[in-house]
Amino acid sequence: MLEIKNVSKSYGRHTALSNLNLNIPDGALFGLVGPNGAGKTTAMKIISGIIFPDNGDIIFNNINLCREKKATKEIVGYVPDVLGIYDDMTVFEYMLFFAATYGLTGYVARKKADILLEQVGMTDKKNFYLNELSRGMQQKLCVARALIHNPELIIMDEPASGLDPRARYELKELLQELNAAGKTVILSSHILSEVSEICTDIGIIEGGKMIISGAVEDILAKVEGANPIKIKVLNNESLALEILKKNKKVRILSVDNSYFMVYFDGKKLDEAKLLGELVKNNILVSEFIREPGSLESYFIKVTNHSNESVIFSNEY
Ligand SMILES: Nc1ncnc2c1ncn2[C@@H]1O[C@H](COP(=O)(O)OP(=O)(O)OP(=O)(O)O)[C@@H](O)[C@H]1O
Ligand SMILES: [Mg+2]
Repeated sequence: MLEIKNVSKSYGRHTALSNLNLNIPDGALFGLVGPNGAGKTTAMKIISGIIFPDNGDIIFNNINLCREKKATKEIVGYVPDVLGIYDDMTVFEYMLFFAATYGLTGYVARKKADILLEQVGMTDKKNFYLNELSRGMQQKLCVARALIHNPELIIMDEPASGLDPRARYELKELLQELNAAGKTVILSSHILSEVSEICTDIGIIEGGKMIISGAVEDILAKVEGANPIKIKVLNNESLALEILKKNKKVRILSVDNSYFMVYFDGKKLDEAKLLGELVKNNILVSEFIREPGSLESYFIKVTNHSNESVIFSNEY
């Protein structure tokens, strides 16, 4: 488990992270999502031991990543958002250079470099100079480089940016492979739909604060739950209203153009039961539709302060 405990970080007078708390289960593929300036890069650099927080600690399986420098270097593989590339090196030399910083040399280093370049689809670029690589190729190389020491915790800052659709697909496969091999992976992105497709867990960060985090399916359920069920009945509206009011999972009820708009906390099964109850009471239900919600619209709702109360209040 990776525990981020009360982490704060300011740059001068500007607060980038403010009491950030988050638990990431072992073996999670975690997506950190937030708008520009939310604090994603800052959080990832702190987890990777590159910069230090003003307050707080980060514990990964009993190791304090903010304090134990040597252990952190071994545990973490970090792919930065801005790639530091040296012009006068070939791709293969670059891999060997990074291998050496982790004490890997000779045959072991060459073999490992070959395997990783193959994994990211860069074998045919092995002898290219780094300044001859496109941005997407550099990105792939940085992913390969970050894995050279077989880290347990892999942190990638916007790894998909600059990649074409095929490379994105390959990155997704690689991330899922690493995850299946038991690695904990944290990646950041602005694109929620992409993250929800790949990740097991997500956290939405804004203004240096974690707004919501959890398993993707729970977050998706909240997205759905944030939208009303539209119900149209053809008879006995007063009985329908009574049944809806009595249902404990109904949070708010309104009427819009002869539709009942029902904000409902239940799951799919609860929805089906509610429909069943209406029908059992001889109410003719002609429409019963949960308005679909996208993660994007939810993201906008939860990162838009004017709507925050709507999402988080249980009373409405
Ligand atoms: N070196 C720095 N000096 C001063 N302020 C900084 C520095 N790095 C980041 N910040 C500020 O801290 C806040 C968080 O920045 P950060 O780079 O962590 O955001 P981000 O979520 O990664 O954004 P993006 O999506 O644009 O990459 C921003 O307001 C930014 O201006
Ligand atoms: Mg960033």
